[in-house]
Amino acid sequence: MAEHRRSGHAKRAIYPGSFDPITNGHIDIINRGIAFFPKIIVAVLRNPRKATLFTVEERLDILREIFRKQPAVAVHAFDGLLADFAKSQGARVVIRGLRAVSDFEAEFQMALMNHELNPSLEILFMMPRARYTFLSSSIVKEVASRGGSVRALVPASVAARLREKFRRLGRS
Ligand code: COA
Repeated sequence: MAEHRRSGHAKRAIYPGSFDPITNGHIDIINRGIAFFPKIIVAVLRNPRKATLFTVEERLDILREIFRKQPAVAVHAFDGLLADFAKSQGARVVIRGLRAVSDFEAEFQMALMNHELNPSLEILFMMPRARYTFLSSSIVKEVASRGGSVRALVPASVAARLREKFRRLGRS
């Protein structure tokens, strides 16, 4: 831990997820997190078991474009365990958003397991702003796939990617 403190890595936080796609709710958490951490690593899980709309490379591309002017935000993909990825990055904090009580049980279980796997890891929960508590990537995809506007829910670049994706899939 002392070594981490010396290297400054103790101040790195990881914000993991699927980000399929990233929403304004995620961005709100990242932007507020930056006030407390000089570096936030947005970490996209490579998860072959989860069917996603965007490939990992597309999601990394989207994220890098969004945060290109924010050097405090780094974007990476990871495989395997979050606890191991955090260790490899020298990060001691994982940020998770808690939108509603319904998120709590799964998050609680995951936090305990991550702590078990890497006892030096702290899990920090942040509440999204009220207007984002209903938001999820699935709901954004649902609306976009049926031709609805998601302009208030995601950055313009993501809305455009969604339109293009569903146009190609012939679903909007
Ligand atoms: N605003 C809007 N939406 C949000 C949000 C926020 N602030 N925070 C979460 N969400 C939404 C996401 O969009 C997503 O919506 P979806 O289900 O419709 O796609 C949902 O909440 C859950 O997303 P996320 O937080 O990205 O969870 P996930 O299940 O996709 O990913 C990992 C969770 C990657 C952190 C977790 O699976 C992991 O660490 N895996 C690695 C393996 C591991 O270490 N396992 C052991 C731990 S027990």
